[in-house]
Amino acid sequence: MTATGSTSAARARTAAGRGGALGVGVLGVGRIGRVHASTLARSIANARLVGVADSLGDRAVAVAEEFGVRVWRSVEELLDDEEVDAVVVASPTPTHARYTVMAAEREKHVLCEKPLALDEATAADAAATAQRAGVVLQLGLMLRFDADVVRLRDAIAVGKLGDIEIFHASLRDMAPPSAAYLSDCGGLMSDAAVHLLDLATWLVGPVESVSAQGARMRSGIDSGGVDLALTTLRFASGALGMLENARGASYGAECRVEVVGSQGSAKIERARSGNLEWRTPGAATVDLVADFLEPFAAAYRSEVGAFVDAALAIGPCRAGSDVAVAATRLSAAAATALEAGTVVQLDRVAAT
Ligand SMILES: NC(=O)c1ccc[n+]([C@@H]2O[C@H](COP(=O)([O-])OP(=O)(O)OC[C@H]3O[C@@H](n4cnc5c(N)ncnc54)[C@H](O)[C@@H]3O)[C@@H](O)[C@H]2O)c1
Repeated sequence: MTATGSTSAARARTAAGRGGALGVGVLGVGRIGRVHASTLARSIANARLVGVADSLGDRAVAVAEEFGVRVWRSVEELLDDEEVDAVVVASPTPTHARYTVMAAEREKHVLCEKPLALDEATAADAAATAQRAGVVLQLGLMLRFDADVVRLRDAIAVGKLGDIEIFHASLRDMAPPSAAYLSDCGGLMSDAAVHLLDLATWLVGPVESVSAQGARMRSGIDSGGVDLALTTLRFASGALGMLENARGASYGAECRVEVVGSQGSAKIERARSGNLEWRTPGAATVDLVADFLEPFAAAYRSEVGAFVDAALAIGPCRAGSDVAVAATRLSAAAATALEAGTVVQLDRVAAT
């Protein structure tokens, strides 16, 4: 989505009113919200963490004390605070679209964790509200902010790999999240595959059709439906894609991306913790991560920094409303394909 006149006006008001620093409130300070709060408090020069809110009051108090910021007792209290120019929505998935709309209606910029919604109509409504209000709406798709992924995209754009023929990607968690999280995250496609589906369109281009197969491999663990899924994509260019999402890889968390073109291929792998390699007689070992917070720490920081710059009108919005709606359209199509066991045709879903 491009900046409209009213967007510029809202951004200018923000910048002028805060002396150049964006006042931000974080809504939901669990796993990812605490990471974003920490980034805003410690790593972004032109932003100020004003405070946090969480339905678990004790959790909000603990995070607020850690960063020396205020605690709001409700979403409304956060959004009505005049020092808040922008909000990070990191509460559970079913709240995303509603909180985005509430924030936009108060002319607050929004960084909303993925997915914006589970269905396209709801996502589109929230995106339209943000556009009407003239605020920035960025979706939390951190892979777009990973330095290697950005380099790969730039290389593909200038033809370094030739015509892209195959896109392969996998995202494996070490263990499924809590039962409470699983009960309302929307399932594997909306919760996890959405990252890879968005990446596929961003790196390779519009997707024409999607099919998927799922399995439940970890019996005895409530993994909220299938815990392993393979999704295949046919791109409008003729290229093919294969995505794997797994809830419980047991040995560690791992993310891989490989793009194969007519003139070469490129691969990114994230599984290691640190750079130490241990060598003992006959063996070499490395440490593996248990989740994605460490391997994507820089990407999460870059994502928040880019959002702040976009809200202050000093940088582009790199994962805006259109991207958010397209991501929901694709993940909903993948969920339908998984459930019905059919190939779902799409109207050329492209990422901007
Ligand atoms: N982009 C990423 O890499 C990434 C990673 C993790 C999570 N996420 C997304 O972020 C969201 C949160 O995930 P998480 O893993 O941090 O979950 P979490 O359960 O650890 O944290 C969610 C927090 O929100 C609070 N909360 C619950 N209902 C609320 C409400 N109505 N209002 C305010 N706060 C409320 C909970 O008490 C909890 O502290 C999910 O939508 C998830 O998809 C994205």
